[in-house]
Amino acid sequence: MPKTPDYFAGKSIIITGAASGIGRATALIFAREGANVVCTDINEQGARDTAAAVNAAGSQALALKTDVTSRAQVDDMARRAIAAFGTVQFLFNSAGAAIRRAKFLEIDDALIGKTFALNVNGTFYAMQAVLPHMLANKHGVIVNMASMAHRRGGPGSSIHYAAAKGAVVSMTMGVAREFASQGIRALSISPGPIKTPFQDAAQSSPELIQRFLEDVPMKRFGAPEEIGELVLFMCSDACAFMTADTVYVNGGGGWR
Ligand SMILES: NC(=O)c1ccc[n+]([C@@H]2O[C@H](COP(=O)([O-])OP(=O)(O)OC[C@H]3O[C@@H](n4cnc5c(N)ncnc54)[C@H](O)[C@@H]3O)[C@@H](O)[C@H]2O)c1
Repeated sequence: MPKTPDYFAGKSIIITGAASGIGRATALIFAREGANVVCTDINEQGARDTAAAVNAAGSQALALKTDVTSRAQVDDMARRAIAAFGTVQFLFNSAGAAIRRAKFLEIDDALIGKTFALNVNGTFYAMQAVLPHMLANKHGVIVNMASMAHRRGGPGSSIHYAAAKGAVVSMTMGVAREFASQGIRALSISPGPIKTPFQDAAQSSPELIQRFLEDVPMKRFGAPEEIGELVLFMCSDACAFMTADTVYVNGGGGWR
């Protein structure tokens, strides 16, 4: 929650991966607070549907088809967001995926390349596209989606993904510290399993999903809104001294 009740009214956020899951839930939470929401995703119809839901909640939205693995498309996303709303205060990089599950010796060049292109390059391009604007305004908050996988290492199913999210955690820390004295904050979030289409997209087996569940001390998956509310807090004026770190949201751990 913000310290100032109407803190988000009229301010703007760009959300990548806004068509689904955590990105969509976060878009609706920012809409509830009166923020303008730039809903971007490689899934154009999904981005439009989220934008329509933002509008239905009474806030302004812009839907954009953006593949975050393309620097040109990400630059265009930033330009159009700034043109639409004048100022962009917040960036939430939610676009990401494990692509597919694989044991370490079965991770080929294509899989590791795609995983890094989406999770690492996508986050890198978006931060580079939006930071000059934020620096000119002497204010901006960037929240990046990492994963608890970066701490577990992803043995047996997702070392490619865990390593990519590790890079997101490091890059977030570096950006936060490089620009800390210029009004910029950057944080990452490292969730445990969250109930979204993410596991379907990664073709996770029912056995793997069950293992994740058993490993969570609270014995349930998180809801995407339980991440979205944290993004809101991180972006708010109640969180002004927090930057650089990753925050775990995982029902109590599960570090095996
Ligand atoms: N759900 C989980 O259990 C979980 C756990 C830890 C971290 N995460 C991370 O949270 C983030 C959001 O995941 P989610 O659970 O909402 O999954 P999701 O599959 O519901 O949403 C991911 C969104 O990213 C979009 N996307 C995929 N490739 C893209 C590209 N190249 N350009 C733009 N958009 C693209 C998809 O179209 C989709 O709308 C991801 O970064 C994911 O790695 C998820």
